[in-house]
Amino acid sequence: MIKVGVVGATGLVGETMIKVLQDRSFPSESFHPFASSRSEEKIIRYRNTDYPVEIITPEAISKGMILFGATSSNIAKKWIPMCIEAEALVIDNSSAYRMDPDVLLVVPEVNGHLITGKENIIANPNCSTIQLVVALAPLQQLGGIQWVSVATYQAVSGAGTPALEELQRQQNGNPPENPAVRIHENIITSIGPPDAGGYCNEEIKLMNETCKIMELNFPIFASTARVPVRIGHTEAVVVKFDNPVQRDEAAATLERSPGIAVTRSGSSSVDAEGTDIVIVDRIRNYPGDPSVLQFWVLADNLRKGAALNAVQIAEEYLRNKGNMK
Ligand SMILES: NC(=O)c1ccc[n+]([C@@H]2O[C@H](COP(=O)([O-])OP(=O)(O)OC[C@H]3O[C@@H](n4cnc5c(N)ncnc54)[C@H](OP(=O)(O)O)[C@@H]3O)[C@@H](O)[C@H]2O)c1
Repeated sequence: MIKVGVVGATGLVGETMIKVLQDRSFPSESFHPFASSRSEEKIIRYRNTDYPVEIITPEAISKGMILFGATSSNIAKKWIPMCIEAEALVIDNSSAYRMDPDVLLVVPEVNGHLITGKENIIANPNCSTIQLVVALAPLQQLGGIQWVSVATYQAVSGAGTPALEELQRQQNGNPPENPAVRIHENIITSIGPPDAGGYCNEEIKLMNETCKIMELNFPIFASTARVPVRIGHTEAVVVKFDNPVQRDEAAATLERSPGIAVTRSGSSSVDAEGTDIVIVDRIRNYPGDPSVLQFWVLADNLRKGAALNAVQIAEEYLRNKGNMK
């Protein structure tokens, strides 16, 4: 059996991770919730037992332990090196190691086969990337992708606990405070400040991570926006293929693909909330060009976009080590 730790156990992704580990009966002989010194007094309930929050130290980590990272990338860069040193496995949700050429960036449905069971760190992609590649990978097999255009409508929980609390504060009639940005009844067209070229960091992540996971280098025209939804990211996607791809053929392929539900009559982000599926909705051929498809992609950013994907990575890792069926 395995020692399991969640680092950032008191945050939105960490809390969801703890739910997903229990839902999926993840094998564990011991459980360790880690967070900052602000949470030292807190108790986390896991499989009917109460665990006090711990501070992560080298003494708390041992060889073979599996640690799920759910902290910001700055914090991740501080604690992950000591886990690698201890020969534990870290599956990290932050962006700290995602584009490191020596670190796998994994969405199990797409490139889970790359996991050998010998890794000490595997990166979990950005939430908006995960749902996009789950839909794109089966379509790549059908027609060969020339380019992708994607516009995102991203939930506030994607920015963590402080942002979600701020949305609630503004919904209660308070003026913007932390951050001093209005999100209630508003849409924000840059997730993080734009760089010198005008792209925001979320767009850069979506473009770079998609190409790394798919091991392809097609252009991705990304526009990312924050919308006043609590949970559930929605993406409007246009794909240009090398060859014609009929919408019925695309729908049948996606229906056969793991983790996807195809809908035809319109969907909404609450349909994805609390579920483990990526919804692909209203697939349509552009009338003037049968090699262009348009569709919507929706998923729960805290589950498939973060915690569920990380647990699926750990399951794949254990299968490849021969520790799990
Ligand atoms: N939210 C999403 O949809 C989503 C999706 C994909 C990836 N991610 C990534 O996942 C990570 C976590 O996001 P989140 O939304 O869960 O953020 P969050 O709600 O703000 O939670 C942050 C967590 O980090 C912990 N933490 C802070 N300093 C720490 C330290 N020194 N040592 C140990 N733990 C520390 C916090 O503990 P305290 O409570 O003690 O402060 C809290 O548990 C981020 O890198 C984010 O970019 C998020």
